[in-house]
Amino acid sequence: RIVPVILAGGKGTRLWPISRSARPKQFLNLAGDNSLFQQTLERVSDREKFAEPIVITNNEYRFLVAEQALEAGVELSAVLLEPVARNTTAAVLAAAKYLAGQQSEDTLIFVLASDHRIVEDADYAAAVDAAALCAAAGNLVTFGIKPTEPATGYGYIEQGEAIECGGFKVAKFVEKPNQDVAEQLVAGGQHLWNSGMFLFERDVIIAECEALAPDVARAVAAAVEKADKDLDFVRLDEASFAQSPDISIDYAIFEKTKKAAVVPAPIEWSDLGSWDAVWKVGAQDQLGNVAVGDVMLSETKNSLVYSETGQVTVNGLDDVAVIVSEDAIFVGALSDAQKVGALVKTLRSDA
Ligand code: GDD
Ligand code: MG
Repeated sequence: RIVPVILAGGKGTRLWPISRSARPKQFLNLAGDNSLFQQTLERVSDREKFAEPIVITNNEYRFLVAEQALEAGVELSAVLLEPVARNTTAAVLAAAKYLAGQQSEDTLIFVLASDHRIVEDADYAAAVDAAALCAAAGNLVTFGIKPTEPATGYGYIEQGEAIECGGFKVAKFVEKPNQDVAEQLVAGGQHLWNSGMFLFERDVIIAECEALAPDVARAVAAAVEKADKDLDFVRLDEASFAQSPDISIDYAIFEKTKKAAVVPAPIEWSDLGSWDAVWKVGAQDQLGNVAVGDVMLSETKNSLVYSETGQVTVNGLDDVAVIVSEDAIFVGALSDAQKVGALVKTLRSDA
């Protein structure tokens, strides 16, 4: 079986003030009746194909993970806890090293982000099957999504030669290009977005991390070796883990490796990373408005108005995001919603 490794340690700052450091977006019901994390669990719930998932998250989110898995009726094989956030290279490698220590027969790892909305259909299942074949052949497999706009928040993949498993070698991987480069890449028509899901053999990703990100590999190996295992959680050793550089797997591995492959996946996919993405997947009325909660709109269009609490009324605006939480309000241009993350960094630390 394939072992799902679910990354659930991000802070989701671009969705402030609904997504907060104490309760980030993956644990919120942003698209549907359950949280994005719970939807991710559902996506790997076929126990013939997938083993019980491993979740890796920040120590702060351990109870959210445990409660939400219980509520979804999903048994987890382990919850690994990061004492400090060191980004996705360290998180993925910790899961791979943990699995190696378990000496499990299941060696294919499927890494899933927990902030995606994906429509699960035959295309999704076929893409996972093709990716598993390509991964078993020694490739580090990404899933490629056809770009719809020159987004700067994604990785871009240039498709290379076809390989037997049904995928393609990655000719070049560019993580989060600037606007000019993103426009060129989309106009050229040769690039796919990196979906943020990966499939690989446990020992291939370990060896590649050792070769390309040796400082991460050293710190994480020690953190897993000295981990403290209590009944429910595997606590990575803080002093060792803190030594790891803070770098995402896209920059540390995928921009550098020669082993990357891509499986083009014609799936309905969105990274619910910012308010404009939430607006896009929301139920838009005829004027292009999405209203969530106790909201009244008049002469307003192309806007997202989201209230977690009191009544909100908006009149005479276009392209606006009005986001009202229990204790904070954001108002800004919806088309410029990517900036929220940078703004939040300038707020007081408990924001
Ligand atoms: N455990 C753990 N620890 N998880 C983390 C950490 C960490 O330190 N940092 C982030 N994550 C989790 C997030 O919760 C999310 O589920 C996933 O890892 C990806 O992190 P994001 O911060 O959302 O990455 P991104 O969206 O900017 O970029 C990635 O995804 C894009 C598609 O959604 C990259 O892979 C891009 O190349 C890709 O296009
Ligand atoms: Mg993301």
